[in-house]
Amino acid sequence: MPFNEQKKILKKIDQFCLEQNLPVGKIEFRDIPFSGEWGIAAPLFPLAAADPNRVGPVPQHAQALAEKLKEEISLPAGFSRVEAVRGYLNLYFETSQYANKVIDYVHYADHCYGMAEPTGKTVMVEYSNPNTHKPLHVGHLRNVILGSSVCNILEANGDKVIRANYIGDIGLHVIKWMCNYEMYHAGQEPSADIMRWMADLYTEADRRFHDDPDFEEACRVYFSRWDEGDKDIEALWLKTRQWSMDGFKQVYDLLGAKFDRVYFESDVEESGKVLVEDLLARGLAEDGRPENPVIIDLDKLLGTKEEYRVAVILRSDGTSLYATKELPLAIMKFEEYPLDQSIYVIDVRQSLHMKQMSKVLELMGYDWAKQIYHLAYEIVNLPGNVIMSSRDGTVVLLDDLIREATDRALSIVKEKNPDLNPESQHEVAEMVAIGAIKYPMISRENTKIVTFDWESALDFNGQSAPYIQYACVRANSILKRAGVSTEYGQMPSVSFAYELDAAEVNLIELIARLPMELGKAAKEYKPSQIATYAYDLAKAFNDFYNQCPVLNAEDEKRTARLALTNAARITIENALHLLGIKAPQVM
Ligand code: ARG
Repeated sequence: MPFNEQKKILKKIDQFCLEQNLPVGKIEFRDIPFSGEWGIAAPLFPLAAADPNRVGPVPQHAQALAEKLKEEISLPAGFSRVEAVRGYLNLYFETSQYANKVIDYVHYADHCYGMAEPTGKTVMVEYSNPNTHKPLHVGHLRNVILGSSVCNILEANGDKVIRANYIGDIGLHVIKWMCNYEMYHAGQEPSADIMRWMADLYTEADRRFHDDPDFEEACRVYFSRWDEGDKDIEALWLKTRQWSMDGFKQVYDLLGAKFDRVYFESDVEESGKVLVEDLLARGLAEDGRPENPVIIDLDKLLGTKEEYRVAVILRSDGTSLYATKELPLAIMKFEEYPLDQSIYVIDVRQSLHMKQMSKVLELMGYDWAKQIYHLAYEIVNLPGNVIMSSRDGTVVLLDDLIREATDRALSIVKEKNPDLNPESQHEVAEMVAIGAIKYPMISRENTKIVTFDWESALDFNGQSAPYIQYACVRANSILKRAGVSTEYGQMPSVSFAYELDAAEVNLIELIARLPMELGKAAKEYKPSQIATYAYDLAKAFNDFYNQCPVLNAEDEKRTARLALTNAARITIENALHLLGIKAPQVM
């Protein structure tokens, strides 16, 4: 935990380094896990390795430096001892003082506890990226949930985050939908459940397209009219596209996903074609038209073998492709915002595409191409190993899934808490349902396949959101029964001047870890880090709850344990917030 003491020591060390002509900024402290006392440790190997005056091997030199530093900093206030061992500088806190500090700090920072100072970095995270006129289905779920959690994590870690959505609003799927609409549903308006209505029409259009050659032909004619800029079609397109956007918004609201900037594929189609001409003029692309497409043979240009392969950037008939639009989109992003990093949350099957696009941009001379990062994730399996794709009409729509989760959660809540009024039961059920869906999507490593099943998602005793949420509810209920206010600034500073129980030590240890866990999750874009941590923390709280009497403890212990309970509640809530999961008061 980054206490002031630590900062002061680092300052002192920097000063020492300057005086000794050693490089500054090579020292970093990490927490030493509790083993009778808490402490922080800094390895001196990086400093030793970078010391221009080093004689002898790095480990010995690191040890010599550790000893020197030990003399230099003597015993700073708040610590019980300092040691130099095997190339490390270790500082130990006085136990009760440390416990005290952690809990006070959590209360002081409250819902900001764990969050880092601004980094000054601007990061764009593009996620969700659905196609209009098609539904958001279970196959899109992981992207939205992962993307918004990564945004929360980066933001909490101090970055300025721009949440972007890149919508596929043109192409054959849109033409099919509109052509079918005009032929069979002209004048109809979407029902309240926009997504379902749009999806049903899409399935119908797609079926006709495959089964009915006349319809296929009609679509072709429709496509040419569209290409020629038919005004009626354009008007219908704008209107129906908005219907889709309204439908997406309903689901985003349920899931708590937000966007600062929406890009449409149609925004970058023309600029993409212009860019292709530019690539041809520079000799980067090869023109195979009219028989063949325009390509960039990256392996040939780079002298690599089967690494970057060939990127196809324009069809032989001059119409645009997915890749045609990718390049101007990337440029637009960097022109619009001072980005230090441009992250794309896209499934792992598009890895080669993203790798090619970054390389092309690099070859075009854009230095920022290296700041593009493809955050790849794996698919979600439903029970029975159904891989979700939007092909047939059997896909599970996102709102259906949320509805089913809410129904299931509601029956559990009713059973657990029959006295709760129906309105609150429903509110709680929704929080539990959304949490239950979200947690499995982010608790697995991004690049591992998720297998979703209701039993584990809603298992109140397993590694699930409801289990973590329930720990918060327990904490709330203890605090309520004790009559302790959880409002900001109401918790007095307490002393832990008694021998701490093992469960207390473990809980304090976990509470103190949030800032470090956040830092790690942000660095590696891994919400799974926080998901696991939130579970460990909730588990540590439940162990404490089962092993350490709170309400029946005597005076000082009682006060201290209540403060610990509240600090645990705050920390769990903050961790859940990073995952986009809400913590109910009751359950
Ligand atoms: N809309 C595309 C699809 O459904 C995904 C877009 C991903 N983003 C990107 N910049 N290529 O496959």
